[in-house]
Amino acid sequence: MVDVHSHLIPGIDDGSSSMEESLELIQTMSELGYQKIITTPHVMNDFYPNTTEDIRARLERLKVHVEAAGIDMEIEAAAEYYLDEHMMQMLDDKKELLTFGDNYLLFETSFLNEPAYLREGIFQIISNGMKPVMAHPERYVFVQNRPEILEDLMDRGLLLQINTISLSGYYSKGAKKLAEFLIDQKAISFLGTDCHNKKHLEMMSETVDQKYFDKALQLDLLNNFL
Ligand SMILES: [Fe+2]
Repeated sequence: MVDVHSHLIPGIDDGSSSMEESLELIQTMSELGYQKIITTPHVMNDFYPNTTEDIRARLERLKVHVEAAGIDMEIEAAAEYYLDEHMMQMLDDKKELLTFGDNYLLFETSFLNEPAYLREGIFQIISNGMKPVMAHPERYVFVQNRPEILEDLMDRGLLLQINTISLSGYYSKGAKKLAEFLIDQKAISFLGTDCHNKKHLEMMSETVDQKYFDKALQLDLLNNFL
């Protein structure tokens, strides 16, 4: 079991706030059966201006602590890029971005309205030799209102990552419904915890009881190839 979306590097975004908390979360993920974590700090110019170099340095520090604590977990870092003008600029400038696996680039968008740069962003990511992965499409209101837009975006090369705990109804009824729909459509490529804190991992125990969780695991998820 490989997780591709979490916020476990301490003090860098709205996820774990201390090394102690990070170790506790990683220990719990190990107990849940995860063998590898690709953690993905937010990169959002106004709030979390994290750079590739800084994330890499902090990952190394985290790994030292995980090993010293005797926790058996492989950890890598990528990032969750917020799709805005700043990200478009980084793509234009061909800046080195943090990807995982086969050059997958995780990004998120605004929750309410379809971002102006969505199609252009997907095109640019692919032009720069990466594979765009949309984080938690089921949580965006503009997608809940019009799920059919995903079909067009997937035709353009977009891959989808849903949050496992969406299946428990943790975020909203709409998010649960859309996650189930996307599983029925076999439209998802990745599952992620999007773990920011202990509560998110506690919700995993309610998620594993859901029949859609088993259904998701039967899909050809790319998590299995990381
Ligand atoms: Fe996230």
